[in-house]
Amino acid sequence: MRKTSLFNDGWIFEKPGFLAEAVTLPHTWNAKDGQDGGNDYWRGTAGYKKTFARPALSADERLFIEFKGVAMEARVCLNGTEIAYHAGGYSAFRAEMTPYLQEENLIEVSVDNSNNDRIYPQKADFTFYGGIYRDVSLITVKQAHFELVKDGTPGLKVTPVVDLEKKCAEVTVEAWANAGGSIVFEIEGEAGILRETAALQDGYAKAVFTIENVRLWDGLADPYLYTARAVLYAGNGADKEALDEICTRFGCRVFCADPEKGFFLNGRPYPLRGVSRHQDRYGIGNALGMKEHCEDMQIVRELGANTLRLAHYQHAQEFYDLCDENGIVVWAEIPFITMFMQNGRQNTLTQMKELVTQCYNHPSIACWGLSNEISAASVVDETVLENHRELNELCHRLDPTRPTVMAHAFMLEIESPLIPIADMASYNLYFGWYLGELSQNEEFFDEYHAKYPDRVIGFSEYGADANPAFHSKDPQRGDYTEEYQCLYHEHMLKLIDERPYLWATHVWNLFDFAADGRDEGGKNGQNQKGLVTMDRKLKKDAFYLYKAAWSKEPFVHLCGSRRVDREEEVTEIKVYSNQQKVALYVDGKLFEEKEGERIFSFMVPISGKHEVKAVSGGLSDTMTVVKTEKPNEDYIFNKTIVVNWFDKEDYKPEYYSIKDTMGELQQHPETAAILEGMMAKMRASRGDVAEASVNNANLQKMMARMTLESLLKQAGSVPEEAVRALNGALQRIKKS
Ligand code: GCU
Repeated sequence: MRKTSLFNDGWIFEKPGFLAEAVTLPHTWNAKDGQDGGNDYWRGTAGYKKTFARPALSADERLFIEFKGVAMEARVCLNGTEIAYHAGGYSAFRAEMTPYLQEENLIEVSVDNSNNDRIYPQKADFTFYGGIYRDVSLITVKQAHFELVKDGTPGLKVTPVVDLEKKCAEVTVEAWANAGGSIVFEIEGEAGILRETAALQDGYAKAVFTIENVRLWDGLADPYLYTARAVLYAGNGADKEALDEICTRFGCRVFCADPEKGFFLNGRPYPLRGVSRHQDRYGIGNALGMKEHCEDMQIVRELGANTLRLAHYQHAQEFYDLCDENGIVVWAEIPFITMFMQNGRQNTLTQMKELVTQCYNHPSIACWGLSNEISAASVVDETVLENHRELNELCHRLDPTRPTVMAHAFMLEIESPLIPIADMASYNLYFGWYLGELSQNEEFFDEYHAKYPDRVIGFSEYGADANPAFHSKDPQRGDYTEEYQCLYHEHMLKLIDERPYLWATHVWNLFDFAADGRDEGGKNGQNQKGLVTMDRKLKKDAFYLYKAAWSKEPFVHLCGSRRVDREEEVTEIKVYSNQQKVALYVDGKLFEEKEGERIFSFMVPISGKHEVKAVSGGLSDTMTVVKTEKPNEDYIFNKTIVVNWFDKEDYKPEYYSIKDTMGELQQHPETAAILEGMMAKMRASRGDVAEASVNNANLQKMMARMTLESLLKQAGSVPEEAVRALNGALQRIKKS
């Protein structure tokens, strides 16, 4: 029968211009330079090679090699003959080695993560790590075996169809093999084993089972898994010797999304409330192992999320397995992202075909994501629409049981023809972080829902960066403080609670992650919208807001423990808890007890060093605060432009200035011309946001309410003299 063994040891890694080094897989060559900022991580073609003796194979045995993830493009040669080519950094692929084996063998894998115009992703806010970053295995099978190569298939496809009324499930199990006479199919659950034998016809066989009194895969409450097995025989199954065996777990559930009532699981309302995750970790890049996957899932479970958006690509099978086992509903997607590439059409179809083929059996996966913010750097023209129609049809052909979805950029007008192509839509909104006001988030969804009441809509991304080193008693949008991130998410959680029609909401992001092109918020190379730091060592205060909303595990959490020094006379002590009552003790004495839900705020006079303790039942959390004369400078992220010189200088309110909104400034031809000049300069300086989005009418409509001053603040380090010059020019123009 089949034998699988890891093939990770003893590789030599060679990067042009560098000494060869011995490595053990999984490996990425961007573990360091992909996370330290500068947008300069090494991208190119590197090589991995390994020599190995001919494995012992009997005459009727065949040897295959399996790569679970090689980013982004791979060519595999065995003893000088190319045995595999794969374009796409996130799906598995296999190749047969048998015909090319010698006594001594050399396998060489050329891996490329260069910039190109045909393999997605090429433009996005995360590091495109290069390397053989997931396990490699050897698989020994008999001459007759289940399919291994086509689209990296698991060889077995299980389609459960549940009838909730009758409490039963009709389970179709299909398998593909290159030879053999029959297949014995089994499904196994707590009630025992059901078995069917089917003859192989043209390399295909299927069996249909009915599970009476089916135990549902019921999300967090009961993620029950059955096992499906297929055993290949030469003859009609009566033979004793089995040729090959494969198995997979599966779950019986019913998903649906209603435009008004949101998401349903197994016939009951089940609002999907959760977070997103990128597959990387501080210091090891994307070369994650089971340890990292399990740690991430533990944090997801502590948070109490019931859904994960596994962005922006196919994640490791091990992690989808963990979602199956933990009852986490998953949004799976391909990296068709940010910028449309004319030469990338085939690659979107290949990546989607492999995602669906390889992940079909996971009960946790609820939908297939076609693209993410594809309008951000591209005009949505007919070729873009056509590529999405093809992807949508491909998904429905490969998997009639799951809906498709897209994540749209906030500047995509809601009337766009792109939106109705997929079965469902979600939007990535960043009002209250990148631009605009927090209230624009709910205004957006209410406008969309009113205009399209029969369309399913969700909230696929929202977030605010926070560096745990930065703090403020007056948190502001763009200050990168934990306090602002908390205020931001308190607002979001409320708007989400008030809108059950949102089929799914996903905080962007559960974890800080590497974006080597970033240099913001005091951490070069990181996107800090995470609720948890990239090393997983620190849960930011906002993490506990969602824990208070979603987790049943009793806790109390004092916010602001990292803001020890406080200049104010009376300071807010905020507590997040999923308990109804919280008592606050200051220096051992009961200060106040409050009843509430999730957020408990106490105003405490301070005059020296104080021990603060939050208590609820047997639960408690403590911290120290110290009254200081002035703000602790270490808490302030100083790259943010502080245009306080402006308030001192006398400015003429009857003339235009940076205090006016973009909408007002667009009204006057002269000020509009000045704005256009400034925007042209900003476009030139921002590589990742192309013409299309900055000129986007929808974006301008959204920016209209922003003052030019707040836009400049948000743009980050705009030199003060440039701001003075701009303001001076505006002050010469009298308001009409
Ligand atoms: C976008 C994008 C993410 C990105 C996020 C951000 O919505 O989809 O990949 O990381 O914005 O700017 O943080």
